[in-house]
Amino acid sequence: PERPPAVAAERPPVVVAHRGASAYAPENTLPAVDKAAALGFSWVENDVQRTKDGRLVVIHDDSLRRTTDVEKVFPGRAPWKVKDFTAAEIARLDAGSWFSPAYAGTRVPTLEQYLRRVEHHHEKLLLEIKNPELYPGIEQQILKELANDGWLDQRHLADRLIVQSFSADSLRTVHELKPAVLTGFLGRPTEADLNRYAAFADLINPSYGTISADYVKAVQAHAGPHHKPLKVFTWTVDDAAHARTVAGYGVDGIISNRPDVVREALGGA
Ligand code: G3P
Ligand code: CA
Repeated sequence: PERPPAVAAERPPVVVAHRGASAYAPENTLPAVDKAAALGFSWVENDVQRTKDGRLVVIHDDSLRRTTDVEKVFPGRAPWKVKDFTAAEIARLDAGSWFSPAYAGTRVPTLEQYLRRVEHHHEKLLLEIKNPELYPGIEQQILKELANDGWLDQRHLADRLIVQSFSADSLRTVHELKPAVLTGFLGRPTEADLNRYAAFADLINPSYGTISADYVKAVQAHAGPHHKPLKVFTWTVDDAAHARTVAGYGVDGIISNRPDVVREALGGA
């Protein structure tokens, strides 16, 4: 069948590999970062949480159950919350076999390991603070880790790092602790509320099903904390039709498990 024409956006949206290229490698692992790089994507998204002994690790769910073999290794420890396991215990888990036997032995990365791999590929990072209400002080700790690994140097701050969260409180804390860091609010504030969010968020990152061209324009008409127009990165768009639709709305970024599908839909942008 004939393909619909590619969207002629003024500026093509940035395409972000969600949890790494997570349709093709286990989410939030180093192979998922490698896969994003191999496919030619410069932005990866991840999720950061904290272990029982205070180490930062990259994993989406608050439980280890879905994406590791924790039930087999630690059968008596239901409900297998990340916060109830030490980093050494988590390092024993297989975070790849659930996805494919080809990834057996893949580990849950620490944030430090993850940052080094992203840096190795010269990629850019959309870092999500996941469930911050479970981890008091995690904002300061993440900023410290980022600083230790050079991610708060001026050249990174300009265009290589965005910290995002569903928690406005958490983002406000990041903004207050380190105003130079770009921040993204995950959600869809009403147009009337945008002014409030623009005090601490540089991006508004809503689910694609909740937006329209008018909403995207309304967001972009506000100036953020760095006196630049707010941007919109929308998620999680995995098919060509929706990619064209949101690109047509004028979004600045598309977050996708299948970034190659989005790129193809937008005419190779
Ligand atoms: O980057 C947006 C997206 O990651 C938010 O939802 O649940 O996949 O972390 P979730
Ligand atoms: Ca996320």
